[in-house]
Amino acid sequence: MTYVVNESCIKCKLMDCVEVCPVDCFYEGENVLVIHPDECIDCGVCEPECPVDAIKPDTEPGLEKWLLLNAEYAKIWPNITVKKAPPPDSKEWEGKPDCMSSEHFGQLAWQFKRVSGSSGLKVQAAIAC
Ligand code: SF4
Ligand code: F3S
Repeated sequence: MTYVVNESCIKCKLMDCVEVCPVDCFYEGENVLVIHPDECIDCGVCEPECPVDAIKPDTEPGLEKWLLLNAEYAKIWPNITVKKAPPPDSKEWEGKPDCMSSEHFGQLAWQFKRVSGSSGLKVQAAIAC
């Protein structure tokens, strides 16, 4: 078991989660954070810290694609242990769950291509809603 960051984090990226993790297993993309599933010790401390409810245990149904995304990007994105300022438009993205909306998904798809080439395309396909 691990905890995973889901689509509610995308472009909200509030980063309250990073400072409470006892094993520093959050990794930072441009629009979203992910949790390294092999480093997470399942303590659950981060789950209530996220103001937009973006962290869930992978035992909840429907999180398979997010577990894949977390695992893939934790390998290549930099570790983050200190909260930074959220994006200036973070509030506008709260509660927007539709990862296939053109702007929301488009930004992430662009990021996938940029950071990880064919591996990113594989994950992009896997998270298509
Ligand atoms: Fe870190 Fe615990 Fe959250 Fe896992 S469940 S990411 S170990 S705070
Ligand atoms: Fe994302 Fe919530 Fe952390 S919005 S960065 S999972 S506090």
